[in-house]
Amino acid sequence: MNNLIDIMQLSVEEIDKLIETALDIIDNPEKYAEACHGKKLATLFFEPSTRTRLSFEAAMYELGGNVLGFSAANSSSAAKGESVADTVRTVGCYADIIAMRHPKEGAPLVATRTAGVPVINAGDGGHNHPTQTLADLLTIYREKGGFENLTIGLCGDLKFGRTVHSLISAMSRYKGIKFVLISPEELKVPKYIISDVIEKNNIPYEEVTSLEENMPKLDILYMTRVQRERFFNEADYLRLKDTYVLTPDKMKLGKDSLSVLHPLPRVNEISVAVDDDPRACYFKQVLNGKYMRMALILKLLEVEV
Ligand code: CP
Repeated sequence: MNNLIDIMQLSVEEIDKLIETALDIIDNPEKYAEACHGKKLATLFFEPSTRTRLSFEAAMYELGGNVLGFSAANSSSAAKGESVADTVRTVGCYADIIAMRHPKEGAPLVATRTAGVPVINAGDGGHNHPTQTLADLLTIYREKGGFENLTIGLCGDLKFGRTVHSLISAMSRYKGIKFVLISPEELKVPKYIISDVIEKNNIPYEEVTSLEENMPKLDILYMTRVQRERFFNEADYLRLKDTYVLTPDKMKLGKDSLSVLHPLPRVNEISVAVDDDPRACYFKQVLNGKYMRMALILKLLEVEV
């Protein structure tokens, strides 16, 4: 069964092919308008979402398919105690492919065992978010022309930010990558990612606390929101939430060629005054996410265009 639970299930060649397909969709949308005619995507979102759920739905509609699903656990029979395994076994009777977000790490992997149709992880707890990484990769490709020889700053909540974990894994396979990990002590990248991904691949990295001091060296700045929903203690969230705020003054410290990404939603960590800076790429990233999800649906459903 074709599933996407972790970005590392995709080889570099498969990512190249998804990017090639996404670029072709951008140039020739009419070619793809009926590609998934008669197919149904189920979006099972046990956690809130704007971009991921709606871009999956827009992606399936633009491929000529249909969509069903729910946007909150309390509007499904999960509220009555139904297990993930039973939920997806049921939905697999109605849909050809499932995109699922769940607060529990590993829930989409569990879903693959009973779904009977391809399952896409649309975010599981603080663990992984592979389709956000596909959006990030297309954005980096379109802004930088490739993935090699880049110094990438990741800033904010590097502990709970699942998009950060997936992006580090994906970028660790390219030559000339350096990571600058900018976070407060309490929100550092988990040790298993440092040892199993960054150090294992001999990637140069620094763990630092100052955004300003490190801005001048970055080719990409990946800002993240402090993940309130993953904190056990509200006081800790309130203390840490505004540690980093990207402002026009701080942007002056960055290269002219800097690209600023953010998976969104943002809260305070990028001032809206930065949005007009040509180096701000986060709304392009939103649109790129839809194209990559279209490419991914085609791949997992084995639809040739
Ligand atoms: N980037 C992202 O996952 O956004 P949503 O939570 O709105 O889906």
